[in-house]
Amino acid sequence: MINQSRFEQPIKKANIYLIGAVAAMAGLLFGFDTGVISGAQEFLFQTFEVGSRSSALRGFVVSAVPLGALLGALVSGFFAKQLGRRKSIMMTAILFLVGTLAAAFAQNLGSVVFGRLLMGLAIGISAMVVPMYLSEVSPAKVRGTIIFLFQLAITLGLMSAFAINLGFAEWIHDTATNWRWMFGMGVIPSILLFLGMAWMPRSPRWLMLKGRKDEARKVLQYLLGKTDVSDCMEEMEESLKHEGGRDWGALFRKPLLPLILMTFGLFVFQQLSGINAIMYYGPEVFASSGFGEKAKFLAQLSMGLINVLATIFGVWVIDKLGRRPLLFIGFIGMIVCLGILSFCLASNGAYPSLSLSSTLLYVVFFAISLGGVPYIMMSEVFPLKSRSAGMAIASCANWLFNMLVSFSFGILVDKLGGMEHVFMLYAGCTVLGLIFAWRYVPETKGRHLEEIEHNLYEGKKPLRYLGNPVDHKEFEQPLNAFLKKEEEALSCCKN
Ligand code: BGC
Repeated sequence: MINQSRFEQPIKKANIYLIGAVAAMAGLLFGFDTGVISGAQEFLFQTFEVGSRSSALRGFVVSAVPLGALLGALVSGFFAKQLGRRKSIMMTAILFLVGTLAAAFAQNLGSVVFGRLLMGLAIGISAMVVPMYLSEVSPAKVRGTIIFLFQLAITLGLMSAFAINLGFAEWIHDTATNWRWMFGMGVIPSILLFLGMAWMPRSPRWLMLKGRKDEARKVLQYLLGKTDVSDCMEEMEESLKHEGGRDWGALFRKPLLPLILMTFGLFVFQQLSGINAIMYYGPEVFASSGFGEKAKFLAQLSMGLINVLATIFGVWVIDKLGRRPLLFIGFIGMIVCLGILSFCLASNGAYPSLSLSSTLLYVVFFAISLGGVPYIMMSEVFPLKSRSAGMAIASCANWLFNMLVSFSFGILVDKLGGMEHVFMLYAGCTVLGLIFAWRYVPETKGRHLEEIEHNLYEGKKPLRYLGNPVDHKEFEQPLNAFLKKEEEALSCCKN
């Protein structure tokens, strides 16, 4: 039964933040492995003599990671449910390690592609399972902050990739080996992720799903720092009564279908905002804005740094301001910045400083909103029994549209006749995203996962109001009626 006092429980913050930091190591690898190719590709293609005309082959090497990630997202629900959240993350650490070694020691391009596909597979699985695990071990008060740590780790990974790219390109001129070192750096976080996760607790909600109540109780006692956790156990048992599980059809009916569409849509708009056109093709964009050879890499690195700093701000405010206000501020800021960037690009490099500042500000607005909120939303709104499947579908949107945007960028620049038009197109998509968020995204700040689930089933609340406080009367009336009936039945027996 849902009871307000439960949300005032003491939290063992140190435990939660430690878990957040270890699991988020997967985010670091996500950012690093997607970002490192922007610097490594030039040397890699020189080593294997891939000419600039073999654009399909080049494109295939670059997009092997998003392709692997799409496959990973497709199977992520299966692993999260069968193997469990913690073991699935440990499995991705092994995939990250093997993929990194295969790419770093590759003797031909095929092995590089194989290694990058494995890395992608690991990214696709972990980008779904890590936020899910974090949402299931964190108390409502700090849940947004903890999941946002995953996004922070992605940005740290991207920034380290940009820094390593610049360092190796500038100071290590042995083109036959420097790309191997660039890839190889991923070995350290992979080992740390594996060892760290081996010490972390399992998700109590997954344990309940598997009927392992005693273990779930122990984990809750550890997380909450108290021995009496019966109220939380009761809530989780309550949520297991809802439909879901093997019933895939339920995902495409009410009340789950709107959740699928909302989380899927958030990732579509995250990618259509053009963030990865800037992350993956940053140096080219800066060159078109009038930057020189070295300056374009420095500009990319400063963008990586700003991304990290703004995400730290996001981590700090997400559970104070809430998801919706951050989304709106972010969307509006991004639209304005994309417009200014497009103007700068149209003026043929006449305003390099304005173009750099609008790009950096765009990244700030992305980082505090669309960067983390889709991951948070997909981990919060799905009921326990359908969580794996629902989140897997939302993650597919992430990778499908990531591939679409990163693959189509060059083609669109040619077809539309310049980068300025492509960025205007992203601005248009972001306007649609703003309207979408306004109409459909709920505010879930401070809500317990089981409260959200209660609002969905018993409360029958529309999508937008899923995060509203639970109407206790609405829950207590049927319960009181039930208790009265029981009492009557008992008194009949006594008589
Ligand atoms: C997105 C990535 C993007 C990164 C940039 C993440 O939320 O899913 O595609 O590269 O943010 O910080």
